[in-house]
Amino acid sequence: FDFGHFGVALKNNIKNSWWKKFVDNRRDMYGLDAAILMNGKVWEASGHVTGFSDPMEDGKQFNVMFKTQVGAGEEVAISYLRPETAQGMFVNFKNTVDAFHPKLPFGMAQIGKAFRNEIAPRDFIFRQREFEQMEIEYFIRPEDWEKYFEYWRSEMLEWMEEIGLDMGKVYELEVPDADRAHYSKRTIDFEFDFPFGKKELFGLAYRTDFDLSTHKLEYIDEEEGGKTVPHVIEPSIGVDRALLALLISAYVEDDKEGEVRSYLKFKPNIAPVICAVSPLLKNKPELVEYANIKVYAPLKAEFGRVAWDDNGNIGKRYRRQDEIGTPFCIVVDFNTLTDNTVTVRDRDTGNQERVKVSELKYYIKEKIS
Ligand code: GAP
Repeated sequence: FDFGHFGVALKNNIKNSWWKKFVDNRRDMYGLDAAILMNGKVWEASGHVTGFSDPMEDGKQFNVMFKTQVGAGEEVAISYLRPETAQGMFVNFKNTVDAFHPKLPFGMAQIGKAFRNEIAPRDFIFRQREFEQMEIEYFIRPEDWEKYFEYWRSEMLEWMEEIGLDMGKVYELEVPDADRAHYSKRTIDFEFDFPFGKKELFGLAYRTDFDLSTHKLEYIDEEEGGKTVPHVIEPSIGVDRALLALLISAYVEDDKEGEVRSYLKFKPNIAPVICAVSPLLKNKPELVEYANIKVYAPLKAEFGRVAWDDNGNIGKRYRRQDEIGTPFCIVVDFNTLTDNTVTVRDRDTGNQERVKVSELKYYIKEKIS
């Protein structure tokens, strides 16, 4: 699946809200952008070469990592496209500790592509072979694991609500022993009630010291004295699944002016387009010029996610923007030329109000916050 203009905007807004909440707004989180192709030994040590398999119909196990060759001639080596972003953080643990000397607990965060040769990719973007993850590895003292497991559970729920997921469709599943990944001592799956069934949305795992130990990494604990191997709580979020669940959460049909309209009720901070600007008539140069220079250009410079829409009549433009999920449509009409006010139409209620052009920027800023 490829994402077009609005899809990529929606994806970026999801990623930005996650990064802002969990990296920028915290003092204990360190960002990372690690390589997708790492030394093949990373995946041997992590247990993925032997253990990251799904059963096939004939009962044989199939390793879902994409194998590839790195280098040429005598120098050729086997490597894998990473099946999770997590390992990049473990192998960069020492770099982060040496650079920042963080005290426990602290975390590392990364957003990036992951690849799995899924036997049965399906349900739109639910299960893909190429997808994006947003992962945190949160390093703790072993005795604190239950406390921080609960803490990250509530942080994840809070973020889901912030981006506008329908929380009535979110369920928690305690993953039984037999179904947990090889590294996990406890996992909760957050499930979502998709139209094709209740399925895993995100995961929260207690990875113990499995990964740092297997990579032979340790931490000098100045507070407690001596060397220790921190344990890890891992909140793991699939960007594509977040996007699919958001589309389902935001989809609304209602009866407006005698016709059924469908629209996407995105929160303004997540919507791919914050507002659309229209001249009432596109064959009136004075309206087009005003709309372009005095309304569209400054809003575009301020917010970026602003659309110009002069196609078809106003009713059609509203419907089109409703389907994109644009919260506000701004129309420049003949009154604007004399009183410098515009019509702002609200997506959800259809209500319209006159707003001064000079105040538009603040009006929208307030709605986003
Ligand atoms: N590092 C832990 C880990 O990778 P996971 O449960 O295998 O755990 C984490 O994956 C999240 O990544 C999932 O909860 C889901 O949101 C997303 N994900 C996993 N496989 C996926 C796939 N084939 N297509 C789309 N998203 C996927």
